[in-house]
Amino acid sequence: MKAIKIAEDIYWVGAIDWDIRNFHGYLTQRGTTYNAYLILGETPTLIDTVKTTVKEQMLARISSLINPSDIKAVVSNHVEMDHSGSLPDIMQLAPNAVIYTSPNGDKGLRAHYKKEWNFKIVKTGDTIPIGQQTLQVVNTPMVHWPDNMVCYMASEKILFSNDSFGQHYSSSERFDDECPLDIILSEAKKYYANIVMPYGRQVEKEYNDLKGFDIAMIAPSHGVIWRSHINTIIKNYLNWVGNVTSHKAVIVFDTMWKSTAMLAEKVIAPAFEHAGYNHILCNLQHDHISDVITHCLDAEYICVGSPTLNNNLMPSVASFLTYLKGLSPGGRKSIAFGSYGWGGQSIGQIEQYLKECEFTIIDSLKVKYIPSEKEIIQMQDELLKKL
Ligand code: FEO
Repeated sequence: MKAIKIAEDIYWVGAIDWDIRNFHGYLTQRGTTYNAYLILGETPTLIDTVKTTVKEQMLARISSLINPSDIKAVVSNHVEMDHSGSLPDIMQLAPNAVIYTSPNGDKGLRAHYKKEWNFKIVKTGDTIPIGQQTLQVVNTPMVHWPDNMVCYMASEKILFSNDSFGQHYSSSERFDDECPLDIILSEAKKYYANIVMPYGRQVEKEYNDLKGFDIAMIAPSHGVIWRSHINTIIKNYLNWVGNVTSHKAVIVFDTMWKSTAMLAEKVIAPAFEHAGYNHILCNLQHDHISDVITHCLDAEYICVGSPTLNNNLMPSVASFLTYLKGLSPGGRKSIAFGSYGWGGQSIGQIEQYLKECEFTIIDSLKVKYIPSEKEIIQMQDELLKKL
């Protein structure tokens, strides 16, 4: 395995995880990469490491250039173990290397690895010396952990952005212009929706802190490096950070005997169609919550349905609502809906979640057993008046 040159004396030495499909609950149907970068020169410096399961790839790529024991410095932009997991292996090979990290990175790495390595704390405005070059540090706390930071190399105009601008996308190609743009943008959208969405304010601060930098390349810690479509990915990020929605409704549900599905398909979807909304139906029996939340990222309406099962929500819907509440896309309109036989508690429980998400509930649809044709027409007419 070889290192891949991305600029003069700068190499990608990461790992490709073709097989991963579950990234702490996120469906990674295209796998992912963990990107580590090696800067050669007087002070060979490694930026981040990789998940421990694929450390051999990183070590082999580094070894194609230098002996890993010659590494003099490691920049740890993020403690999460997909980026720090192989740090113990590097430090075993290069025990005197200096580890540059943020104040919370220092705490986090010590808590994870219980080692007294040669830590050096760096803050926004500090520079990390690498021979003739320097890396300029910007701490970006809560994008998406307290320890996050990014660094900028002025001589090459490269931003090493860690999780920001990343995509879970495995490929042998390393650059945006070598891959289908629609696919990498949709994976970047999915990444933002599932990982970054609750931290829009912090991303906005990161954007403002980086505004003055002349960036020719964004090298994230997952997926491909942006060099030809930097304006496009930044424009997308600004829309997501700004919580910009389109004339679109997501209708997400599970169903037992198809009555809740009838509400989704015969009442809600046609009402949105008549009102001129794009809409998408997501059945949680086969649609993964991490894909559903991606559809929600720019949707004006998020509609959630569940029949009542044992006085409760169906577990799939409870799981989705828990995930939705945690990711908290604010300021949406919503509809709760569902069928029931006797108790009918599920609709109230959905409403409670939607209120906790601070959504405006514009309607609740509740039907006993099976909706009749007359009920379907009535509910659709009533709903249409509210859209
Ligand atoms: Fe890719 Fe927050 O780790």
